[in-house]
Amino acid sequence: MTERIGKQADFGFRRVPLAAKQAMVDGVFDSVAKRYDLMNDLMSGGLHRAWKDALVTAVNPPPPTGRSGRLDPKPRPGRLHDKGDRAFALLDVAGGTGDVAFRVVQAGGPGTKATVADINTQMLAVGRARAAAQGLDHAVRFIEGNAEALPLPDRSFDAVTIAFGIRNVPRVNMALAEAHRVLRFGGRFLCLEFSSVDVPGLDALYDLYSFNVIPALGKAVTGDAEAYRYLVESIRKFPKPAVFAETMRAAGFRRVSHQPLTGGLVAIHSGWRL
Ligand SMILES: C[S@@+](CC[C@H](N)C(=O)[O-])C[C@H]1O[C@@H](n2cnc3c(N)ncnc32)[C@H](O)[C@@H]1O
Repeated sequence: MTERIGKQADFGFRRVPLAAKQAMVDGVFDSVAKRYDLMNDLMSGGLHRAWKDALVTAVNPPPPTGRSGRLDPKPRPGRLHDKGDRAFALLDVAGGTGDVAFRVVQAGGPGTKATVADINTQMLAVGRARAAAQGLDHAVRFIEGNAEALPLPDRSFDAVTIAFGIRNVPRVNMALAEAHRVLRFGGRFLCLEFSSVDVPGLDALYDLYSFNVIPALGKAVTGDAEAYRYLVESIRKFPKPAVFAETMRAAGFRRVSHQPLTGGLVAIHSGWRL
């Protein structure tokens, strides 16, 4: 007798029922939410800040002078067909504690607004507290929502970002289709994610560091080594850039490209709604 196996998904190196993955991911972020930002700094030696800054540069929000009536020489998402003076709207999917959204509104000035959408209540609570502490709550709103079914209207954002989030989503194709749906024509999707290290020697060192140091550090700081083992394993399971590019094209994105950073440790994947 053959046993019927339903749809499966990767949860780190384990295969789990697709329907079970989200709850397992939620458990990881429930467990680490309060120490999430500290761990990012410790694990990456602060590098995640530079990667997020590179993402913000690619988002290219209008600078504070951009709304003063002067012509802005640089093309930017959402400005292809838009001559109006409305706010530049960013959606940061799986935005967690708000890091990317804060950076974009700070770079963009008063004409830039950001929405953080995340499925995890604990991560959002930390994000809301950080926004208030930084005086950014007027420019950043936090909503609870699943990347696979965003509770947001069609064509309502100039740019959509997702940083270190996509590999946690069970149905990546649905999340990409949703990002495409909520983008305005001429809008840009940018995904910052761990990638494939392509510098000889660095890959072995990276393996040693990630499989040994990161779970131990996770245990010391958050009390949860397993959450950080999942992080390391899920990075290894993430598809190579060419494969991910195909998934992006299938979701409707055009002019798909990627930019490796730090020897391929991470990459920024880009696509446009045209
Ligand atoms: C590694 S954190 C990244 C947080 C933030 N983007 C950053 O770079 O600091 C991954 C986030 O993805 C969120 N997430 C996981 N599955 C999700 C889903 N289906 N929809 C929306 N958010 C999700 C988690 O709750 C978590 O906040």
